[in-house]
Amino acid sequence: MAQLPALRWNQDSGHAGDAGHSGNTDRTAHRARRVLLRNWTGASTVPSHRLYPHQWSWDSAFIAIGLRHLSAVRAQRELETLLAAQWSDGRIPHIVFNPAVPHGAYFPSPEFWRSTTAGRAAGAPADRHTSGIVQPPVHALAVWLVHRADPAASWRRSFLPRTYPRLVAWHRYLTSRRDLGGQGLVAVVHPWEPGMDNSPCWDGPLSRITPAATGSYRRADLDHGAAADRPTDLDYGRYVRLAADYRDHGYRDRGTAWGFAVEDPGVNALLTVSEHALAEIALALGTDPSVHLDRARQLTGALVRRLWDPDAGQFLCRDLLTGALIRERSAAGLLPLIVPDLPVAVAAAMQRTVRGEHFGLGNRVRLVPSYDLCGTTFDQHRYWRGPAWFNVNWLLEHGLRQHGYAERADALRSAMVTAAAATDFAEYVDPYTFQPRGARDFSWTAALTLDLLADPEGGTRP
Ligand code: SER
Repeated sequence: MAQLPALRWNQDSGHAGDAGHSGNTDRTAHRARRVLLRNWTGASTVPSHRLYPHQWSWDSAFIAIGLRHLSAVRAQRELETLLAAQWSDGRIPHIVFNPAVPHGAYFPSPEFWRSTTAGRAAGAPADRHTSGIVQPPVHALAVWLVHRADPAASWRRSFLPRTYPRLVAWHRYLTSRRDLGGQGLVAVVHPWEPGMDNSPCWDGPLSRITPAATGSYRRADLDHGAAADRPTDLDYGRYVRLAADYRDHGYRDRGTAWGFAVEDPGVNALLTVSEHALAEIALALGTDPSVHLDRARQLTGALVRRLWDPDAGQFLCRDLLTGALIRERSAAGLLPLIVPDLPVAVAAAMQRTVRGEHFGLGNRVRLVPSYDLCGTTFDQHRYWRGPAWFNVNWLLEHGLRQHGYAERADALRSAMVTAAAATDFAEYVDPYTFQPRGARDFSWTAALTLDLLADPEGGTRP
């Protein structure tokens, strides 16, 4: 049987409130738990009651990672609820709609996606409404970390035996149906799929898309979020057009004339780490993990071969419609730091980039911004065009630590906890001032803060 290179994810055990906490951190953990309790709807957690009132795919994975410190069983249920909406082609939809929430509360609503009819041939479930696009595959990592938090409860509920086949089908969907470039990497077909909706990386590819007519839909996000913090109407029109085209093509991945197809380093890095997590899960189930380890190795190789740019000192996105790398620096290009077997020289160069003028960590800013501080379209308030996000920083904290930059990781950890506590767990913050932007009481901010506080040693233990 294959040898596992340990997936040493920090904070993979322990409980919030461990010895060694000061009063302040205990209070922050208490407030974070309260957010998670309030945002729990009975079977899953909303990212935010007003702005995002349903279940979101990658949100749920990050939420479960924090929720496990509050209730391992609840964290299991979070992931099980999401996986129950999986399509038979293996895709995990990016939104699972809560039937109790009025359709007008969020756009695009179930009437837009029409998963039960337009998605029928692709295998959408008949008994619930979902979207038809996907989000980054953080799920296997989340399942593994949730299992590790309370193995007894996990085995009692057969959590791994029940989730493993679904996770395998999910990864198979991505690596087979979504390898649109045929080079061993997954492609995203909508800016919502990599989760960084209005990243400047998409400006070029999106400029080719004719926006949907403004009067043909109504944005619900502006009812709850400030327009200056959110994507523009022009971007929204293009999001709507791309999603409608995919839907009208029956959400088929074969024979589709894609308007947008990009290999994103963040998505592929998360898939690689999740493939390592699948190897751990396979081993725990007494089966051979080789297939997952081989795939993780292939993904790591393809990532470096296709998306590493030595001059930029970071990974870039590749536009599959032009074949060219997109010369914009977003935080997605730093996320491969989470990959355990990254070449040492690549990890070292990225660490320099994180601290250099473009991301400024430890110099100009204390949290990694979502986009290049020197970029001409940098905007410190607007969603993914500059603000610092907690999931990205949580991943980078781990990445820096695993590649030997513990001091930098410690400083990042402390900045994250400070910013989360000072902003009522904001969705994102101005990277210079920590001014809160977007929603407050945001679930993954609370969950990941709880996760950081659960391991006061900073994950340095083996
Ligand atoms: N992030 C998108 C939104 O803002 C869709 O998932 O609604």
